[in-house]
Amino acid sequence: MNSNDQQNNKKPIGAVAVVGAGIGGIQASLDLANSGFKVYLVEEEPTIGGRMAQLDKTFPTNDCSMCIISPKLVECGGHPNIENITCSDLIDLKGKPGHFTVSIKRRARSVDESLCTGCGECTNQCLVRNRAYLDVQMIEPTLGEDEKMAVDEILERHKENRSPLIPVLQDINGRFNYLPPPILSYVSFKLNISLAHILRVATFYAFFSLEPRGKHMVSVCMGTACHVRGGERLLEKLEDELGIKSGQTTEDKKYSLEMVRCIGCCALSPVIRVDERVYSRVRYNTVMDTLMKY
Ligand code: FES
Repeated sequence: MNSNDQQNNKKPIGAVAVVGAGIGGIQASLDLANSGFKVYLVEEEPTIGGRMAQLDKTFPTNDCSMCIISPKLVECGGHPNIENITCSDLIDLKGKPGHFTVSIKRRARSVDESLCTGCGECTNQCLVRNRAYLDVQMIEPTLGEDEKMAVDEILERHKENRSPLIPVLQDINGRFNYLPPPILSYVSFKLNISLAHILRVATFYAFFSLEPRGKHMVSVCMGTACHVRGGERLLEKLEDELGIKSGQTTEDKKYSLEMVRCIGCCALSPVIRVDERVYSRVRYNTVMDTLMKY
């Protein structure tokens, strides 16, 4: 049994209210709870985690935000000394240091928390939130003949799949080099999945793009190993030579340039990836030769 477990098993030595369950509130709650205080963590949103849980990377190390916050969310959610009071607002605070009385108003959640598995299905089925999309879906979106044929063929290919969305989006992305918005509306209509959900998936994975991309995707690794071995200079060189910035596409639609964080070849850094192929130990002077092969 470690010292934290020993502290948790003791009777709390006092009670503290922490308002706001972002990363700061969560860390404060954990520190206080591990010191033996009973903590009431008050959060206005339905879940704890705040903005950090919505971010991709953190400054300055570019570490994955969820990798940092997830263990704290789990610890906070199951800590015997922490009571999470979500969907709630602090409405009054009375008393003096050492003896405060806090009034909290808890809003209706419309979901039985004890049964919730976090599947998110209630969001997809919410008639209020999806009203705009439901109305739009009454009419089949119109596509050009070729586009329609291509998308129908993709949908047909995955019709037996119980979760067809991601494979369908992958095939559309492969066929059109990006996910054209009218096609997403058509997929939404055909699969009877809300456009809100499709956009959530499409914008979560870096593999998908809602903007037209070049024929070849050039990815420059900016993970720590590649960064210290010259990844930044490679990126600058490519930006200069192609006349575009990271995230942009050349006018002739031949190349798109992007930065990525670690593609798992750190020992071979610095690396770039062109489409599916990874080039290791790339040199500043020869990086354009590599690209010109395409
Ligand atoms: S940091 Fe570039 S491959 Fe890992």
